[in-house]
Amino acid sequence: MDKDKKLRSQEWFGDDGKMGFIHRSWLRNQGYPDDYFEGKPVIGICNTWSELTPCNAHLRGFADVVKRGVAEAGGFPLEFPVTSLGETLMRPTTMLFRNLASMDTEESIRANPLDGIVLLTGCDKTTPSTIMGACSVDLPTIVVPGGPMLNGRFRGEEIGSGTFTWMIKEKQETEGFSEEDLREAEVCMSRSNGHCNTMGTASTMATMSEALGLTLPGASAIPAVDSRKKLMAQLSGRRIVEMVEEDLKLSDVLSRKAFENAIAINAAVGGSTNLIIHLLAIAGRIGVPLELDDFDKIGSNIPLLVNLMPSGEYLMEDYYYAGGLPVVVKELSKHLHDDTISVNGKPITENSADAECYNRDVIASIDDPVKENAGIAVVKGNLSENGAVIKPSAATPELMTHRGRAVVFESYEDYHERIDDPDLDIDESCVIVLKGVGPKGYPGMPEVGNVDLPAKLIEKGVKDMVRISDGRMSGTAFGTVILHVSPESSIGGTLALVENGDMIELDVPGRRLHLDVPEDELERRRAEWSPPKPRADRGYTKIYLEHVEQSDIGADLDVLKGGSGSGVGRDLH
Ligand code: FES
Ligand code: MG
Repeated sequence: MDKDKKLRSQEWFGDDGKMGFIHRSWLRNQGYPDDYFEGKPVIGICNTWSELTPCNAHLRGFADVVKRGVAEAGGFPLEFPVTSLGETLMRPTTMLFRNLASMDTEESIRANPLDGIVLLTGCDKTTPSTIMGACSVDLPTIVVPGGPMLNGRFRGEEIGSGTFTWMIKEKQETEGFSEEDLREAEVCMSRSNGHCNTMGTASTMATMSEALGLTLPGASAIPAVDSRKKLMAQLSGRRIVEMVEEDLKLSDVLSRKAFENAIAINAAVGGSTNLIIHLLAIAGRIGVPLELDDFDKIGSNIPLLVNLMPSGEYLMEDYYYAGGLPVVVKELSKHLHDDTISVNGKPITENSADAECYNRDVIASIDDPVKENAGIAVVKGNLSENGAVIKPSAATPELMTHRGRAVVFESYEDYHERIDDPDLDIDESCVIVLKGVGPKGYPGMPEVGNVDLPAKLIEKGVKDMVRISDGRMSGTAFGTVILHVSPESSIGGTLALVENGDMIELDVPGRRLHLDVPEDELERRRAEWSPPKPRADRGYTKIYLEHVEQSDIGADLDVLKGGSGSGVGRDLH
């Protein structure tokens, strides 16, 4: 940074009149000496700690480690809380609140005397929400991912958070899995601090942060309880102070090429489909053009290199010991841009040039990948004009081209009521269609796309069926599941018009999703269709319903796109 350029925080603290007095005096009830206000970079530590977000519960004390680093480098650390979003408790879905949390982050940063930002993140939405908010202000910013839990261990077997959850119904139906078994498995699965230990959405979001260049090299895979996590946090605290001095802002790191790298890397690690929506939303905030089709174009020919649940066998702890993301970046280097910059000022490719793999079962080499062509496929057709997505690495190969009879559920409640009805006319060749779970429909686009199969088919040994919805799927889940159908049913997308018995054609290799009903019949149904009543008439949900966009462009609120910079013209008195 130009040595004569004044720090942003000096607009508050550098005033030698009444306002400077106000800005400093109250803060001094914590005892900071004079020199803290005389040109030290002020670093905001944005903490998503909450006991209601168990995956982030350790971040409360963790912030102190970051502060240590900030202070050592000559900065002035000030921690602040923002809305925390916990996947496992919040109803109806954290996705309803991602944009709210991003607003909280944005306004908290801009309104305060901060020069640089550390985002302490963990559980799924706490990463994209804080990055989105920070992008709309665009100060120097570094992400410190809270890290995954240790491997779950249950009766001699390794079990993955989330992924195990999706097997419970099957275990209860076929193995006599009892209430006591369930209780025991609960503690065994979640045995340490941290977020889900599979390559679910939280690990995917941490990986994305590192792939975009927003973390120190190698930060994302370190387990939450490993001492090296603290080391990384302390070094991140030091580094953010330098970033302020260098004026290395989010917009310098988040180039179009950085997004392309993140898409390719997500394919190689078998990351969550939720990445699509969050990355599109982040791009929208920082002003980088990015489209749903980019995920298919850039990601679908990338090989799967990482053998982690839900696509594979291992867990995040194994992945960290095998070398973590730097190994993946090194293997993938010919598919990546090498002229991006990360928070340490260097491209992620350069940062990873010396990475070594310590376990080829966990991270494969590019010459002998776990699977060719992983990534995400975008399917379009009359059933999804703006697109829908599928994660082929988590799907059944035989179902990737399929024609089947639709069994339609008009809402998630309708699904629950009827799915296990012994008289339900359904077999394994059918296509389960779930409506009303898109951004506006639910509202909030819950992770229900991977609905359980009917009990009677599970008992017969059926493991997978084609399922289609406008909802999302947990990053820890699997199956031949078509998600994010856009436009969604509750705004009158063709999905709204599907009826029981219609034939649906899925052709993933041909990127096609087709409802085989004549156009004049669809027109007749469309004329009869009327939108559902809005699900809220006050509060945040009403604002959300009025402004949320479709999932193919990131499901952000239209009024939040872009940024307003870090300037604030007016003072408080
Ligand atoms: Fe928080 Fe999975 S529930 S990361
Ligand atoms: Mg999740």
